[in-house]
Amino acid sequence: MKQDELIFNIINKENNRQLTGIELIASENFVSDEVRRAAGSVLTNKYAEGYPGKRYYGGCQFIDEIEQTAIDRLKQIFNAEWVNVQPHSGAQANMAVFLACLRPGDKFLGLNLSHGGHLSHGSPVNFSGLNYTALEYNVQETTGYVDYEQLDAIALKEKPKLIIAGASAYSREWDYARIRRIADRIGAVFMVDMAHPAGLIAAGLLKNPLQYAHIVTSTTHKTLRGPRGGIILIGKDFENPWGKKTPKGEIKMMSALLDSAVFPGVQGGPLEHIIAAKAVAFSEALQPEYIDYQTQVKKNAAAMAKALIDKGYKIISGGTDNHLMLVDLRSKFPDLTGKQAEIALVKADITANKNMVPFDSRSPFLTSGLRFGTSAVTTRGIKETLMGEIVDLIDTVLSHVENDTVIRSTAEKVNAMMKNYPLFAW
Ligand SMILES: Cc1ncc(COP(=O)(O)O)c(C=O)c1O
Repeated sequence: MKQDELIFNIINKENNRQLTGIELIASENFVSDEVRRAAGSVLTNKYAEGYPGKRYYGGCQFIDEIEQTAIDRLKQIFNAEWVNVQPHSGAQANMAVFLACLRPGDKFLGLNLSHGGHLSHGSPVNFSGLNYTALEYNVQETTGYVDYEQLDAIALKEKPKLIIAGASAYSREWDYARIRRIADRIGAVFMVDMAHPAGLIAAGLLKNPLQYAHIVTSTTHKTLRGPRGGIILIGKDFENPWGKKTPKGEIKMMSALLDSAVFPGVQGGPLEHIIAAKAVAFSEALQPEYIDYQTQVKKNAAAMAKALIDKGYKIISGGTDNHLMLVDLRSKFPDLTGKQAEIALVKADITANKNMVPFDSRSPFLTSGLRFGTSAVTTRGIKETLMGEIVDLIDTVLSHVENDTVIRSTAEKVNAMMKNYPLFAW
């Protein structure tokens, strides 16, 4: 068979793009060679519907060992009682929780998408908003922090069956204990989607939501630094929020409900090559250097937020407790949209994404914000002392979005800078 030159040439170009640019998308990261080797391994050839020891296909003895290793390592990282490593993505992990906990039409409460929430927490174009009744809480306009009083008030009035904490663009620590208290008062399931800060939590640098929530979901590819995928976890004491009875009246524990919601509920065969890559990433997360890495991610984010503020940019909530920050461009460039800013930065080989800011005056297609995250640049070995220089490059581009000469010379500086940093430095 002929080699597929078309695709491999494009992959080479993408590899070059990743090597030469500054990657600031908050949900992205670079995985180690070992994670990539596992993800590209022969395991992609194998069907393994079911779970370790209970498969619908023969020849799963090695697959079982791999999936069980992923399960054991993940439990150890987060001190979990039960986990499922099969969700193909974060959205599918969330879908499985909805399937296990709600009936179509049931009410649930999540953070407003335009205030930092995620599509799968109730957007009207997503399964969550299409099949269930989505209610939303906001961040406060003045502080940029979650409006817990509003959350409590909506929960008490509407009595949703599920409350979700977690976000795609929220830079602050959560008050999980407070949300758990309100969930207990109304008999709701409390789910935390820790997709963004999971790596920082794994390193012990942010609160572990498994101590507060009935169910926790995550992606594995953002701060956690594994392959693209999802996971579901349950902590030590929170197996079954309904006592012994599920809403359907069956005596079935939450973990069994979640296992069957993942397979056969929302998925068929698991991606065992990705599960092997997850296991490798989990092993990396259990090593002492991982704490140094995540500590550096946080330091880089704090330094970046400070440098942006010093240059006159407004950061929502005034700073960051994690790896990301949300910039309201209107404070410095009232006429510049997030879309224009993203396009100009990409031309300078700096990758970030436009993002709604809370109470945005523009549409999601234009936006007034940019979201930045520091996981990927930290993986390449960048330290906090360079974050000021990176912010200078960003500021130069945003001050000259129409000036191709300035943008080209900035791209040259970016490429020269990134020559000093290998793809994976940890
Ligand atoms: C909070 C949150 N949950 C879920 C997801 C969905 O993950 P995936 O893209 O793997 O479906 C994301 C992705 O950005 C996210 O930010």
